[in-house]
Amino acid sequence: MKKIGVLTSGGDAPGMNAAVRAVARAALSRGMEVVGIQRGYVGLLNREFVEIKATTVSGIIQRGGTFLYTARCPEFRNMEGVKKGKAVCEEIGLEGLVVIGGDGSFRGAGDLSSLGIPCIGVPGTIDNDIQCTEYTIGYDTAMNTAVEMIDKLRDTTQSHDRCSVVEVMGRRAGYIAVNVAIATGAEAAITLERPYDLNAIAAKMTKTSSQKDGKHHFILVVAEGVGQTENIAREIQEMTGIESRATILGHVQRGGAPTVRDRIVATEMGYHAVELLSEGIGNRIVGMKDGKIYDIDLQEGLAMKKPFIDRMYDILVDTAY
Ligand code: ADP
Ligand code: F6P
Repeated sequence: MKKIGVLTSGGDAPGMNAAVRAVARAALSRGMEVVGIQRGYVGLLNREFVEIKATTVSGIIQRGGTFLYTARCPEFRNMEGVKKGKAVCEEIGLEGLVVIGGDGSFRGAGDLSSLGIPCIGVPGTIDNDIQCTEYTIGYDTAMNTAVEMIDKLRDTTQSHDRCSVVEVMGRRAGYIAVNVAIATGAEAAITLERPYDLNAIAAKMTKTSSQKDGKHHFILVVAEGVGQTENIAREIQEMTGIESRATILGHVQRGGAPTVRDRIVATEMGYHAVELLSEGIGNRIVGMKDGKIYDIDLQEGLAMKKPFIDRMYDILVDTAY
């Protein structure tokens, strides 16, 4: 291939810049031209392009967000929009495309591949909810940010003998919630994947409270998909008499400098995407399996079911007090 495009799509994630940089540098060093497409599929349809040279991606590996911007593009959800995308690729001579985003973005990439534009999906989302990969770019940074915020919350929670009910992101997935709960020594993680019993949580809190057993702070981590954070805080307060506050961490989890892990995984995944395109291979998702970077057919990858981190959940339950 002589000319490829790269775009970021869906929710941004720390490490997307590192992935774009790796795509660009790997492609340029193979003599390919690289076109940056701004705002995902929106920018493809609107022809928002930037020429990417080696220096264009200098000084971005450590930056959060995505310098290509990102967007959601309803038009690309139907084949008419995808056909327009194909026509734009042909108009500017793009022979392949790297799509950095979540599973929605990959469905668009699959549709574009089916029309003859080879696309490679690189998983970029803090949620770690893409079926065929153990890891998605941004997950580690988001968890570190959430842990940092909850450590701060714990200080004030403890001073007031309170309970903090903290909502973390993850869309419908509880991967962030469980790991962050472990890393902050929380009392429980409340997720959609495992049933939860507020009465049991409340009974344990009453038993270990400062009056009974000297515990001055309680942290309950709630996955956003549960959608009940304020209610849980109110109900826990009613059940235990322990003053409770709800905190929704929100989009702060999507920002900030990517961690070492995110920079390295993003670089390896972006590099692998270009290796595939340079061999003329498209319609693949780059992922991580058993800790190693691999690739899988796009439709097959999207049809997989991702196991929940049941063991980590059980470890949390057994080590919380
Ligand atoms: P993510 O990629 O993070 O999962 P979205 O689900 O919002 O985020 O998808 C990002 C974009 O991918 C959408 O705005 C749309 O342009 C495209 N997309 C999503 N779902 C599909 C689909 N089923 N078919 C084609 N394109 C899709
Ligand atoms: O997919 C990343 C994510 O941050 C989810 O955790 C969250 O549910 C969603 O995106 C929020 O989307 P928006 O940026 O549209 O508010």
